Amino acid sequence: MSTALNVVPTGGALGAQIADIDLTQPLLPDQVGQVRTALLDYGVVFFRNQRISEPDQVRFTSYFGQPVEHVRKQRERPVPEIFIISNLKEDGEPIGALGHGEVSFHSDLSYLRQPGTLSVLYAVEIPQEGGQTQWCNCTAAYADLDSDIKEQIKDLRAVHRHYVEEQNPPEMIHHPVVRTHPETGRKSLYVGPHLTKHIVGMKSGESAELLALLYAHLEQPRFIWTHEWQVGDLVLWDNRPTMHRRLPFPAHQRRLMKRTQIFNDEIPF
Ligand code: SIN
Repeated sequence: MSTALNVVPTGGALGAQIADIDLTQPLLPDQVGQVRTALLDYGVVFFRNQRISEPDQVRFTSYFGQPVEHVRKQRERPVPEIFIISNLKEDGEPIGALGHGEVSFHSDLSYLRQPGTLSVLYAVEIPQEGGQTQWCNCTAAYADLDSDIKEQIKDLRAVHRHYVEEQNPPEMIHHPVVRTHPETGRKSLYVGPHLTKHIVGMKSGESAELLALLYAHLEQPRFIWTHEWQVGDLVLWDNRPTMHRRLPFPAHQRRLMKRTQIFNDEIPF
C-alpha cells in the first residue's frame, strides 16, 4: 500500500523535513522512492526525533546506494560504515573528526576521483551554542550567475585536495567547475573553499581571483539554509548540487554526530 510521506519544505534556499516517520523501522520501496524524489527536489531532507541504532542508520543509508567505510581511518568500531564527527576525546585522543572549529564550504570527498554522492548525518549530542550546519544551493547559485561568467567557466576544471596530505590519492584530482547532475540534468557550481585548490591552467593570482568571486557568489544568504540541530535529527543530503559548512562551537561543549557515506561510482561531469 502506498502512503504519501509528509514532506515539508523549509521555505529557505533548499531542504525539506520529512515528518511522521520512524527510521527504526524498514521503509517500504514506495517510501524510499518518495524520499529519493524529495532529495532530488530539495537537495537536503531531514527527519526529527529519531532514536536509531548504528545498524538502523546503515540500513537507511543503503536504500540510496552502497554505504562505505570512510577513507579516513578511525578507531575500530562495531559498525565500520559509521564515521564519527566529534570534538570529544577518550584517553586524550579525539574519538572523531573535525573538532570544534569552522569547516568551510565543501562537497564531501571531492578530493577523490569518484567523490561521495550522498551523505547522512545523525545527531547524538549537540552543543548549546553554534555547531549548525549550513547547506548552499549550488544549482540556484549557478543559475543566477551572469551569462559572461557562465561562458567564462563553462569548460574550466578545478583541483580538489585534502589538507591532510595522506588522505589524497597519488594523482592530482580535478573536476569540472560546473557539474551536471546525472539524474536531474541540472548544472551546479562545484567549487568550495575547504577543498578546491586552484583552477587548472590558470596563473595562481587569476585562479584565486575567480575562485574568490565564485565563493562570494555562493555564500550569499539567499542560497544558504541553516540547520539548527536537535538531538535525534537525521539529515540526508545530495553532495552533487549542494555544498555544506559547519559553524564553530565552544571547545568545551559536546558535539557527537554519526555519519554514513554513499559512493555511486560517479565521476563528476
Ligand atoms: C561535514 O562537514 O561533513 C560535517 C558537517 C557537520 O559536522 O555538521
